[in-house]
Amino acid sequence: MIKLLTIIGARPQIIKAAALSRVIKNKFSDKVREIIVHTGQHYDDNMSQIFFDELDIPHPNYNLNAGSGSHGKQTALMIEGIEEILLKEKPNCIILYGDTNSTLAGAVAASKIQVPIVHIEAGLRSFNKSMPEEINRIICDSVSTLLFSPTKAGFDNLVKEGFNKKTVPPYSFDNPKIYHCGDVMFDNTLFFSSLAEQKSTILKDNHLEIGNYLLVTIHRNNNTDEPNRLNALFRAINKISLENKIKIILPLHPRTAKLLSKNLSSELYSTVKTNDLIKIVSPVSFLEMIALEKNAFLVMTDSGGVQKEAFFFKKPCIILRSETEWIELVNSGSAIVADANEVEIIKAFEKFKKTKRFKFPVLFGDGNAAEFICEEILKNIH
Ligand code: UD1
Ligand code: UDP
Repeated sequence: MIKLLTIIGARPQIIKAAALSRVIKNKFSDKVREIIVHTGQHYDDNMSQIFFDELDIPHPNYNLNAGSGSHGKQTALMIEGIEEILLKEKPNCIILYGDTNSTLAGAVAASKIQVPIVHIEAGLRSFNKSMPEEINRIICDSVSTLLFSPTKAGFDNLVKEGFNKKTVPPYSFDNPKIYHCGDVMFDNTLFFSSLAEQKSTILKDNHLEIGNYLLVTIHRNNNTDEPNRLNALFRAINKISLENKIKIILPLHPRTAKLLSKNLSSELYSTVKTNDLIKIVSPVSFLEMIALEKNAFLVMTDSGGVQKEAFFFKKPCIILRSETEWIELVNSGSAIVADANEVEIIKAFEKFKKTKRFKFPVLFGDGNAAEFICEEILKNIH
C-alpha cells in the first residue's frame, strides 16, 4: 500500500483531483491510500464545498484555512502547514495540480524535505513571467520527480527546458520522468457530461435557449486589477450582446465580483447592470458549468480550464488573454487569442459567427489520463 498526499486549494484543483480520487476508489483502493490536504486558498461554498458535494470527492483530511492574502503571506502559511503534515503523514509522494499558489507551496514544502513530487499538468507555459502562475509552474516542474503533461506542447516545453525524455528508473528529483498522458479535466468532462444534462436546470432557471447565448468568465488578475483591461472587456461584452441581441451569462469569480464596481467606469458599470441581455451570476457548480458550456453558442474566457472545456464540447472560444498555454486550441482554429482588446474581441466574434465548420481534433487523450497516472505512480514511487 502506498500513501499519496494530494494538495488542493483553488477551484480547478478540486475539480481536477476528482478524477484521480475516483480512479483510486474504483480501481486501486487495495494499493493506494490518498490523504487530501485542502490549503483553504478558495473557501466560499461556491468555490469549494459545492464541488465536494457534487463530484463525490472524499472530504479533505486536513484544511489549512490559508485563505486570501498577498502571494507571500498566503504561500508562506501554506508551506508551513503542508510541511507539518508531510512530516507527520510521511507519504510516499505528494500530488500537485496545475499552477496556483497551493501548487507552489506544495512544491517548496515537499522538495525541502525530499518527498517526491508528482506534478499533474506539467510543462504548460505561457512564456509570460508577469503571470504568477508561470512562476509557480516553472518552480514546481523543476523539483518534480514524475511530470505528467496533458499535451504534446507541454511535453515539448519540458524537453526544450532540458528534461531528458529517455530517463530510466529509479526516478528521483535529479532523474525525473516526463510523460505526455492526456488531461484529467477531459476525463472529468466525459464522466460528468451526461449527469450534467440530467441534473442541471441552469438554462431553464436563466431563460437561456440552447445554442443562443454566450458563456463568459473573467478572473485573471491582470484583467480584474487593471481598469483599462476590465473596461475594454465589458465594453466588448456589452456591444456584442446589444448588436446581436444575444444573451450573455457570466458566472463571476469572487475576485472579479469584488472589483467590478471599483474598476469599471461608473457609466459602464450602470450600463452593464441595466443591460437585460447580460446576466451576471455567482460562481456555479461544475455540473452547471458543463451544462452552460455544452449548450452555448460560443465561450469567451480568460480561464485555462474553461478554454479547454469549450473545446471538449466543440465550442469556439475567444481567449481574453494575450497568450495561452493551450496553444493547440488556437492552432486548431477553434480558439482566438483576442486579449482584453475590444476591437479584437468583436472581430473574433464576427469571424466565428461566419465560420460554418470547426475542427476539434483529439488532443487531450481518451478520458483515462487519471488511470494512467495512477498506474505510473504505482510502478515508480516506492
Ligand atoms: C487562483 C489562482 C489562479 C487560478 C484561480 C482559479 C494563484 C496565484 N492564482 O486565482 O491561477 O486560475 O485561482 O479560480 O494561485 N476570493 C473570495 N473567495 C474565495 C476565494 C477567493 O472572495 O473563496 C477572492 C478574495 O478577494 C481573494 C481573491 O478572490 O483575494 C483572489 O483569490 P486567490 O485565490 O488569491 O486568487 P484567484 O484570483 O482566485
Ligand atoms: N468552473 C465552475 N464554476 C464556475 C466557473 C468555473 O465549476 O462558475 C469550473 C470550470 O468548469 C473549470 C474550472 O472551474 O473546470 C476552471 O476554474 P477557473 O476558471 O477558476 O480556473 P483556471 O482553470 O483558469 O485555473
